[in-house]
Amino acid sequence: MTVISLTNVGVNYNEGTKNAVTAIKDISLEIKKGEFICVLGPSGCGKSTLLNVLAGFVKPTSGSAIADSEPITKPDWNRGVVFQAPVLYPWLNVKENVEFGLKMRKFGKKERSDLADKYLKQVELFEFKNHKPYELSGGMRQRASLARVLVNSPKIVLLDEPFGALDAITKINMQFLTRLIWSYEKSTFFLITHDVDEALSLGTRIIVLSSRPGVILKEFNANFTYRISQSNLDQTRFSKEYIRLREEILSLIYQQTSENSGYVI
Ligand SMILES: Nc1ncnc2c1ncn2[C@@H]1O[C@H](COP(=O)(O)OP(=O)(O)O)[C@@H](O)[C@H]1O
Ligand SMILES: [Mg+2]
Repeated sequence: MTVISLTNVGVNYNEGTKNAVTAIKDISLEIKKGEFICVLGPSGCGKSTLLNVLAGFVKPTSGSAIADSEPITKPDWNRGVVFQAPVLYPWLNVKENVEFGLKMRKFGKKERSDLADKYLKQVELFEFKNHKPYELSGGMRQRASLARVLVNSPKIVLLDEPFGALDAITKINMQFLTRLIWSYEKSTFFLITHDVDEALSLGTRIIVLSSRPGVILKEFNANFTYRISQSNLDQTRFSKEYIRLREEILSLIYQQTSENSGYVI
């Protein structure tokens, strides 16, 4: 089942001005239910633009973006977004933040509360539900943002470098938690990262974009995410297959950045 279908999508910003930029070009992509797609590409190549098209924040200049047989024209609860900087209302506590979307959607009080508790447990924040965002660490805030999205049971979760600002250990823990949630929610995840190990250890499909204008250079199927959940991280990431694919992806990206000096990953 296709969740979102992109056909020859291109995005130009500031068309007709001297600041005109082609961010992405000719992107065709079928996102299937249950996939965990990871997108890698040099900085400034249009990754966030692509995610913003899926989310409905940016309209394609050319081509089509379809979800549920309808063109994507605006944001929707069905497509939840997690940004690098957590989005939380500072005056609400953690639970009120998680309930916020359901309140907007006119869910009853009891249902709202039960759903918020369920997802607070899932992201291991239940004990902190009465805390205000400023009382939480960066990783906890990001978990609260994730719960805020998951509580709406979105058909797809879009994550734009969600762990980029976290320290190495918190990042690994967040990756484990994300993998767990993806597998028991049976949801579809689309994650942008500049960390090849993050892509390899989470993704079922890895898409490598070229430098700007971003086009799809190559796609790889991967199953390391299943292997990590069954065995352990190190056994998988030191395996021959993992190292081979890692080298292939990195050399693709280095090629892009050296052809366009000035952009670094
Ligand atoms: N709203 C915008 N208006 C004008 N230019 C933009 C806008 N958003 C992004 N860009 C430009 O589009 C290009 C791709 O940006 P972005 O999608 O953020 O890349 P990435 O996420 O891969 O770093 C960059 O050159 C950026 O400056
Ligand atoms: Mg970006």
